[in-house]
Amino acid sequence: MAGLFITFEGIDGVGKSTQADLLETFLVEQNQSVVRTIEPGGTELGQEIRHLLLHRKGEVAPRAEALLYAADRAHHVATKIRPAIAAGQVVIGDRYLDSSVAYQGAGRELDQAEVRNISIWAVEGLLPNLTILLDLEASAAFSRRNQTGTEPDRLESEKVEFFESVRESYLKLAAAEPERFLVVDASQSIDEMQAQIRSRVKALLS
Ligand code: TYD
Repeated sequence: MAGLFITFEGIDGVGKSTQADLLETFLVEQNQSVVRTIEPGGTELGQEIRHLLLHRKGEVAPRAEALLYAADRAHHVATKIRPAIAAGQVVIGDRYLDSSVAYQGAGRELDQAEVRNISIWAVEGLLPNLTILLDLEASAAFSRRNQTGTEPDRLESEKVEFFESVRESYLKLAAAEPERFLVVDASQSIDEMQAQIRSRVKALLS
C-alpha cells in the first residue's frame, strides 16, 4: 500500500516541530512507519543549500532564493520523499512548497503562481495528502520566538509586517484548497491543537 505525505506549514514560531513530534508519536502507536523530514535541508545536498539560504552573508536575489528552495525540494522529493511513500511509510514534512509560495511569493513579491509552478515542476507534481497550517498572528509568533533566545537566521530577521503578509498568503492558499489543508488555530494549547490534528489524520488512515 502507498504511504502518506503530511506537511506542516506556518510562519516561524508557531510550534510546527512540537506538533510534528506529537503526531509522530501518535502514528507510531498506530503501527505506522514514520519518516520525519524538513525543508530546507532534508538531504545531504539540501543541508548545503540550507546553509546558503540561511547563513550565508550578503544579499540573495529573490529569484535565486526561490530557485534554491526549489532545487532543495526537487532533490528531497526524488531521493527521500517519493521512495518513502512508495514503501508505504508516512512522511511528516516540516515545510514544503506552500512555504515557497507564502514566503517567496507574498513576502518577497514574486508572482505566486510562478513560484508555485517552479516547485510543481521541481517535484513532478507531488502534493501532500494533508497540509496542516498552524495559524497565528505574526506578533504572537514573534514573542514566542524571542523567548527561545536563539540568534535569528537571515529570514527570521525580517520585520513583523513581512510575517503578517506571509500569514495572509498561507490563509489564502488554505482557502483555495480546503480538502488538502487543515487550518489549526495556534493560539490554542498544545494538546488542543494536537487533538484536532489527530482526528483529521485518523480519518486519513482508515
Ligand atoms: P525552518 O527550518 O522552519 O526554520 P528554523 O529551523 O529556523 O525553525 O525554515 C527556515 C526558513 O526558511 C524559514 O524562515 C522559512 C523559510 N523558507 C522559505 O522562505 N521558503 C521555503 O520554501 C522554505 C521551505 C522555507
